[in-house]
Amino acid sequence: MSDILTIADLKDLARRRVPRMFFDYADSGAWTESTYRANEEDFGKIKFRQRVLVDMSNRSLESTMVGEKVAMPVALAPTGLTGMQHADGEMLAAQAAEEFGVPFTLSTMSICSIEDVASVTSKPFWFQLYVLRDKDFVLNLIDRAKAAKCSALVLTLDLQILGQRHKDVRNGLSAPPKMTLTNIADIAMRPRWWMGMAGTKRRTFRNIVGHAKGVGDVASLASWTTEQFDPHLSWKDVAWIKERWGGKLILKGILDKEDALMAAETGADAIVVSNHGGRQLDGASSSIMALEEIADAVGDRIEVHMDGGIRSGQDVLKALCLGAKGTYIGRPFLYGLGALGKEGVTKALEIIRKEMDITLALCGKRLVTDMGKDQLRR
Ligand code: GLV
Repeated sequence: MSDILTIADLKDLARRRVPRMFFDYADSGAWTESTYRANEEDFGKIKFRQRVLVDMSNRSLESTMVGEKVAMPVALAPTGLTGMQHADGEMLAAQAAEEFGVPFTLSTMSICSIEDVASVTSKPFWFQLYVLRDKDFVLNLIDRAKAAKCSALVLTLDLQILGQRHKDVRNGLSAPPKMTLTNIADIAMRPRWWMGMAGTKRRTFRNIVGHAKGVGDVASLASWTTEQFDPHLSWKDVAWIKERWGGKLILKGILDKEDALMAAETGADAIVVSNHGGRQLDGASSSIMALEEIADAVGDRIEVHMDGGIRSGQDVLKALCLGAKGTYIGRPFLYGLGALGKEGVTKALEIIRKEMDITLALCGKRLVTDMGKDQLRR
């Protein structure tokens, strides 16, 4: 592991170890992928002020997200099909996050279920909810998240319809994968992956199968979303979900100031400035470029988080400077998981922590919570 120093190193290893269909699923963006690329590239346009001869002893990366203490303000984002990057992926990632002291968010479209993750963790995790047409099933998910003592509900607002990723269509993405000749040949080259999969019973969408009425099989995310995602969703739905849940609520997928102002009116605890990792509206702004205006508009009324494009500790600090109280990583932990399982998720978090710590010091700050706009060179 001594040759793994960056998130890009984990990505290279994951590319070799994870079947192509699942690596591509995690790694790609919608249509031309311009927003997906902008998410990463726009961080590079932001520059820090370097300061010298400032006391840099006793540094701390600790902070809070929706009132919960975090070892660093970097949560694991909700990502679909995580248990296809590595057997029992959600359970392993949740354990790594718990040991590290950062929040783990379980996706509705996970392989391991809410109950699976609860059975291997001892601290509360967060649950991400999609609002589906079948409202009984949505209520069932909320109640199961409550029963599992999840401490925050992350409601995704930007996926009422699925943005197309060409690679998923070409690869015939499904969980479990269909046993075509191409897939068999691809999987045969990844023994670590298939030996793990052979040893687990968790190979399809376990939050859904057996829980939603009439659903015996949800192999394809695309067909399920087309049938089940609700195009009528509105701000009124946020109100009943908030009421039914009764706990901390985070609204994910805001990229526009007007929407942020409406979100602040709902009484939710936080918003996530996000374009869904460039997987939905291709041509939308990068998250980091949308952040400042939104944080300036609503940051005094609602906690502002962001995700999209974070590949280093420097990126996290830039987001904090521009008004985020917390951030999320999706692909970086998935690369870690695909490369090395639980150890790889821990490695991704360690890489980011080390980069944050050194960068903080070279910016002349001791507390991560002190990073603000004055730390950027504009
Ligand atoms: C699901 O959230 C996806 O982006 O695939």
